Amino acid sequence: MCGIVGIVGHTPVAPLIVDALKRLEYRGYDSAGVATIEHGELARRRAEGKLVNLERRLKDEPLDGLIGIGHTRWATHGVPNETNAHPHFSNGVAIVHNGIIENFAELRQELIADGYTFSSQTDTEVVAHLIARELAAGAEPVAAAHNALKRLQGAFALAIMFKSDEDLIVGARNGPPLAVGHGEGEMFLGSDAIALAPFTNSITYLEDGDWAVIRRNEISIFDMDGNRVDRKRQQSLGTSFMVDKGNHRHFMEKEIHEQPEVISHTLAHYLDFANGRSKPLDLPFDFAKLDRLAISACGTAYLSGLVGKYWFERFARLPVDIDIASEFRYREMPLSKDSAAIFISQSGETADTLASLRYCRKEGLPIGAIVNVRESTIARESDVTLPTLAGPEIGVASTKAFTCQLSVLAALAIRAAEARGTISAEEEKLLVRQLAEAPRFATQVLKLDQQIEKVARELAHYKHVLYLGRDTNYPLAMEGALKLKEISYIHAEGYAAGELKHGPIALIDENMPVIVIAPHDRIFEKTVSNMQEVAARGGKIILITDRKGAAAASIDTMETIVLPDVPEIIAPIIYALPIQMLAYFTAVFMGTDVDQPRNLAKSVTVE
Ligand code: G6P
Repeated sequence: MCGIVGIVGHTPVAPLIVDALKRLEYRGYDSAGVATIEHGELARRRAEGKLVNLERRLKDEPLDGLIGIGHTRWATHGVPNETNAHPHFSNGVAIVHNGIIENFAELRQELIADGYTFSSQTDTEVVAHLIARELAAGAEPVAAAHNALKRLQGAFALAIMFKSDEDLIVGARNGPPLAVGHGEGEMFLGSDAIALAPFTNSITYLEDGDWAVIRRNEISIFDMDGNRVDRKRQQSLGTSFMVDKGNHRHFMEKEIHEQPEVISHTLAHYLDFANGRSKPLDLPFDFAKLDRLAISACGTAYLSGLVGKYWFERFARLPVDIDIASEFRYREMPLSKDSAAIFISQSGETADTLASLRYCRKEGLPIGAIVNVRESTIARESDVTLPTLAGPEIGVASTKAFTCQLSVLAALAIRAAEARGTISAEEEKLLVRQLAEAPRFATQVLKLDQQIEKVARELAHYKHVLYLGRDTNYPLAMEGALKLKEISYIHAEGYAAGELKHGPIALIDENMPVIVIAPHDRIFEKTVSNMQEVAARGGKIILITDRKGAAAASIDTMETIVLPDVPEIIAPIIYALPIQMLAYFTAVFMGTDVDQPRNLAKSVTVE
């Protein structure tokens, strides 16, 4: 899930490419590079680490070429160093790549036998050599690229440049997204529309198997057989602004604080607050006729789906099978004809989620997608897009997308319950009214920042943390643990509170704080018993509860974070905030790179 850019321009392109790469840094940030053609020769600058290092390099040794390609990397094959950084060269061919060439080992052997030498450990370099070999055999650049593409197996988005033609970039897509941008006397190529936003909002998305010949005055798109294909040119939405941190230290902090507003926008999209009803949706299935719902997603999006399962089953009496997409795609799960599938993804590009969607498509299921990026592949390949209105999420650790996903799922569960007749009009009105309160309560919770920061200062001293919760707070416990480990690098586990006695209790001592997420709901007492078990073994408890819970739990805690008393349906949305804030402040105390934690990427377009 690297980011790639290409520009055939009329002014020096290197600064423009770096600007576009900044917008793509969410896709990977291990190393970066730019190549241009300088006085008829390929030239490149590459640097290990963040883009700022590449910018520094370019300041010392600028590039002036009018055509170029650039890359920001998330390493798959080969450690993140300068030698493995893209672009890769071979005899007049320059290439940047996102994805994995699955048959690279075989191709590498073949090329070595033909006398090609490899200077990197990447799978990408085989593509550069393959094209160079075609050129050496007499093919023209475009034909050389096409012939080489036919040899590739796996997932790729590629930008290819030739020193012999300063008016040509070839782009190719099989899996990871790639968009071409139309300009006047200049053309662009990029992993997404946001990367190209400062240059153009006139975009054509390549489809799987497409490859494009991009010249200053013309773009032609072909399929793998070499037939010309017509792809829609569209105005890209909402990408014309540069996302910045405002007056926040990190994007994550800003995104946490945006939640009252974006939750409100998202809920208003699905709920008619004035009449206390869920809005009708143009769905490719009828909730009343479904016997099961399959939900699949990755990471934080998966955990939102897990909360959704509780809601669909409780309110709509609709059984839900939920899977991590990387398992779902290979599990060959039998799917009944009366099922529908819902996929959840912030980026709409996650490779495993997309593969699961395609499996369900093949099985003939109607498909809905809860996505934040409306122009994404998952959105385009589903029968109905159910948008989260979170706006661009830049911090790698998902925050506002999560609570917006929860908002959509809650609204959908109410819609399903109404369609299946499992709630009355009065109950629907009450639930809608309760959801309408979520933004107000979220605002109140954000005001607990000082107390949560104090707890985080303590937490930063520990190496292991356990999160416990029951019911919808169980997925939240897992989300809390995920957030903490991904940005602070403290080992954390999320468990169903009732499972404590089946294993994790053996770990409890004064060195492992236990964060208990327990609003005063119908199973609060059960969770209190689990807390007693922790306390009896010298465990330190951080309790996140509400006023009633704080009054009822007569247990010594390291700290009790008291939230307002909120209706049960919005509890997962509201309780998500303190766990995000706790992870955020802890990471700040640990001094980690909060928005771009090590080894992670925002959009995972490889398996
Ligand atoms: C990565 C991100 C997570 C995200 C997951 C799924 O791991 O770091 O924040 O939850 O991918 O991404 P998606 O875009 O499909 O929601």
